Amino acid sequence: MDESQSTLPADWYVDPARYHQERSTIFGREWLWFASLEQLPTPNSYFASEYAGYPLMVVRGSDGELRGFHNVCRHRAGPLVDEGVGVCGNLVCRYHGWAYGWDGALRSARDFDGEIDTDEYSLFAVAVQVWRGQVFVNLDCSAVPLLDDLSALFREVEEFPVEAMRLANASHHDLACNWKTYADNYLEGYHIPMMHPELNREFDAKQYRVDTGDRYCRHSAPARAGEATDGRWLFRWPNLAINIYGDAMNIEVIVPTGPQTCRVLYNHFFIDPEHQNVSGVLRLSDVVMEQDRAMVEVVQRNLAAGRYRQGRLSPRHENGLAQFQDLVRQAANRDSSVGDDSSVSNGR
Ligand code: FES
Ligand SMILES: [Fe+2]
Repeated sequence: MDESQSTLPADWYVDPARYHQERSTIFGREWLWFASLEQLPTPNSYFASEYAGYPLMVVRGSDGELRGFHNVCRHRAGPLVDEGVGVCGNLVCRYHGWAYGWDGALRSARDFDGEIDTDEYSLFAVAVQVWRGQVFVNLDCSAVPLLDDLSALFREVEEFPVEAMRLANASHHDLACNWKTYADNYLEGYHIPMMHPELNREFDAKQYRVDTGDRYCRHSAPARAGEATDGRWLFRWPNLAINIYGDAMNIEVIVPTGPQTCRVLYNHFFIDPEHQNVSGVLRLSDVVMEQDRAMVEVVQRNLAAGRYRQGRLSPRHENGLAQFQDLVRQAANRDSSVGDDSSVSNGR
């Protein structure tokens, strides 16, 4: 069987060693959507969350600058801030009180009385860059700049008023499946007539198509009579989906949380949340999520069960998966030690 038409082997969705390799060869070196700028509104604000097992934070320093760090103290690995959004006077480790500046430099090591060289213990830095109000991080501080690396994707949404949209709702769904099981499902419309009656009523699924570009793909389907679909559904390797319409968008992010678990983040933005049908949009997206969840969690158990080893991709419907799975294979051939090197770079 031609490799481009066969699926990834089932154990790639199950094996803990594979998961740990992907943490460094994929999530340790790609640009990852992290937060909306709205979640870092003022000096001294931070946003912290765990990403493929890496506890990360982006802070807006007292100088107004955005910087990113691993949320891990250099003393004995305590946390600096709690997960989520917050504001704090300074960055003091919760465990024994080492204090860091907003630039990540160690300012004081409590009761060490000058016995260590503070210059050697800055927080581990991560790269932070912003695209139209959306904050991305990269654990590899020497990565190609965000706007270059994702240029093909960003061109797709050029005409949409992304920065005029307000974050109306951020939620997440924890799923009992590998991150790729969920991504595979997102990447095809083949299942829509079988699983999503609500979507199937709006779109002509027979004409659903997926076009691939530079590490991204665009889904489209003509609306059935009377329905408006002035939008784009885009997926960018490795884990970012942007579903965008004239006046609303959902940034959907698939965050690995373990070999056989993931968390899907939903970030719904609207031009005018006061007057748009926010609750209707959220309700439909939750209905669709639960339909997908029911399937992907069974698929995950079946992949883990041991009889099924490898399947076949539809050239007509699953070209988006073929591209995605090919990128997964390419990443698997990378040296997994390299992605972690950036995490030992100095915080300044
Ligand atoms: S672990 Fe941070 S001060 Fe000890
Ligand atoms: Fe679906």
